[in-house]
Amino acid sequence: MTRRTDTGMPWPSPEDTPQTYWDAFHGGLDVPDQIPTPNPLLVEEASRLPVGSALDLGCGTGGDAIGLAGLGWRVTAVDVSGEVLRRAEFHAGRAGVHVDWQRHDLTEAFPAGHYDLVCSQFLHSPTERPGQRTAILRRALDAVAPGGSLLVVGHAGVPASMAGTPFDVDLPGPGELRAALAPDPAAWTVAAERTVDRGIVTGPDGEPFARADTVLRLDRAG
Ligand SMILES: C[S@@+](CC[C@H](N)C(=O)[O-])C[C@H]1O[C@@H](n2cnc3c(N)ncnc32)[C@H](O)[C@@H]1O
Repeated sequence: MTRRTDTGMPWPSPEDTPQTYWDAFHGGLDVPDQIPTPNPLLVEEASRLPVGSALDLGCGTGGDAIGLAGLGWRVTAVDVSGEVLRRAEFHAGRAGVHVDWQRHDLTEAFPAGHYDLVCSQFLHSPTERPGQRTAILRRALDAVAPGGSLLVVGHAGVPASMAGTPFDVDLPGPGELRAALAPDPAAWTVAAERTVDRGIVTGPDGEPFARADTVLRLDRAG
């Protein structure tokens, strides 16, 4: 039985893998009636790009993949949780779009191919070990086709109530992330590097906190 925090979040046990953790997490959530909607920062950045092929890393319930497919992108979407991929596929069917759903643990495997847009929204995990997210995103850079883009959207900070818990993971700013990815300046342009104020939201403890998200978009020369 997975231990849960007092706010209902499953607490990873030492035996948990990313798959067992995230299957328990997603399996514990209600399945909403509504088809999930895409993250606004993804929509904003994608609207500046020509439609093509896209790879979504850590797709969750599929809002971003379904949103991109609805705009005409040919989408491959990856998650470690078979549980959440079943839900995402169900929602895509209801939305009438096709997405190639693939289960991979991105700490160990990566989908084949090159894509015009490789994106990752909130790929943060309490099972993450130091350096794993950066390694995944370096691999993501390699998967960007010439003329394509890497987009990484993340949280800029965790609520105070999560400080010191397994959910208090490394959340680099966009500049720090760019430095860690070290894209070759001869081949890559920084198209977006910003922190966006998302207003006051209710944290997992029910307390309001000021949410901010980070955006890094790197465009590869054609
Ligand atoms: C915080 S959720 C974000 C989901 C979605 N991108 C969104 O913005 O709503 C992180 C997602 O990454 C997935 N994930 C975590 N670790 C992973 C890994 N090692 N490989 C693949 N997916 C992973 C989780 O299952 C979860 O669906």
